[in-house]
Amino acid sequence: MVESINFSIGADRESIYSEIGPQIAALIAGETDLTANLANIAAALKEAFGFLWVGFYLVREGQLVLGPFQGPVACTRIEFGQGVCGNAYSSRKTLIVPNVNEFPGHIACITRSLSEIVVPMFNDDGSVFGVLDVDSERIDDFTDVDSRALEAIVRLIEKLPR
Ligand code: SME
Repeated sequence: MVESINFSIGADRESIYSEIGPQIAALIAGETDLTANLANIAAALKEAFGFLWVGFYLVREGQLVLGPFQGPVACTRIEFGQGVCGNAYSSRKTLIVPNVNEFPGHIACITRSLSEIVVPMFNDDGSVFGVLDVDSERIDDFTDVDSRALEAIVRLIEKLPR
């Protein structure tokens, strides 16, 4: 399997996503364990972009429960409809929040987080089985470039056994 992620330091974010996309696909190819794959994807995104926090919340017993992540410790359980993650779950849409302090009901489990993007992950039947959450220490750090690239990564995750 791939043992390191290579990318052009200092390149623009879109270029880095193009560089690491195929490497992430290779990283998870042949591994059937969802936890192992999510852990490596979180690590690859954190390493490539230096985001404050990259991780997954997975649907467990009617809540979103903390899954594999990279970054500071985070809240373990989020109710559907609560915070950015719970809203992405309920709306079934990618949410970009340019300033979390202006997002009603934002869950401030990491005070250094200032902007955030959350991408829902779908089962074949259309239900949501979890979300990818990326947090930044910079205001307004996420654009369509991030949503397109992170959604492409989530489409790979959806094909994994679970
Ligand atoms: N801020 C998130 C909670 C999760 S953490 O940031 C890791 C939210 O409002 O959903």
